[in-house]
Amino acid sequence: MESLNRHTDYGQTALDESHLSGDPIAQLADWLVEAEQAGVYEPNAFVLGTIDADGKPTARTVLLKGVSAEGFFFATNYLSRKGQALAVNPAVTMVFGWYSQHRQVVVEGQAHQVPDAESDAYFASRPRDSQIATAASAQSQSIQDRAALEAEFEQTAARFLAGEVPRPEHWGGYRIVPTRIEFWKGRSNRLHDRIVFERASADQPWQVTRLQP
Ligand SMILES: Cc1cc2nc3c(=O)[nH]c(=O)nc-3n(C[C@H](O)[C@H](O)[C@H](O)COP(=O)(O)O)c2cc1C
Repeated sequence: MESLNRHTDYGQTALDESHLSGDPIAQLADWLVEAEQAGVYEPNAFVLGTIDADGKPTARTVLLKGVSAEGFFFATNYLSRKGQALAVNPAVTMVFGWYSQHRQVVVEGQAHQVPDAESDAYFASRPRDSQIATAASAQSQSIQDRAALEAEFEQTAARFLAGEVPRPEHWGGYRIVPTRIEFWKGRSNRLHDRIVFERASADQPWQVTRLQP
């Protein structure tokens, strides 16, 4: 496979400590905007790693739906495989790969369910078909075939007719509060830049370190 032997030159554009905001959450938000402006497809998609009850890591892609001073918001089914993992272990990792910009951000932190009112507000903002699909699907559980899934969707749509679709109580948001955020910028000769922000807990100041590539 040709692409496995490719050696891309990541160029000389630097990532210097002086380029970065002192607040890595705001910095990640800036890189997100720059990824969007650069035309990255689904720039807010990230890989979410969790640890299940047996200590086994699992990962999947989800969409970042909000950034605040506290951290990062995404929404999912609380009874899904990831939801069950988070119920026993809130430790997570998030990986953003903006490869066309030679950028990666890796976040480590803890994910906690947001208050119901916040999940309600976010659910209400979603397109109606997404609301129906969410209400119709028991995410991560098996189903006989595609036809059965579509029948669930039609039955759910019929149940709510034109009325408001209420948020299922097992679906909602999580906020990931980070304790480590690493910014990676590809450079020539594989001498990549890596700047890591770490703090012991959310009320402690960030410490900044440069790592070898
Ligand atoms: C680009 C992309 C975005 C996705 N966004 C979400 C999301 O925001 N929330 C979600 O629950 N699943 C999302 N998914 C589906 C998840 O990857 C996954 O299949 C689902 O959440 C079930 O994961 P689990 O069984 O590990 O809990 C997305 C998938 C892709 C490829």
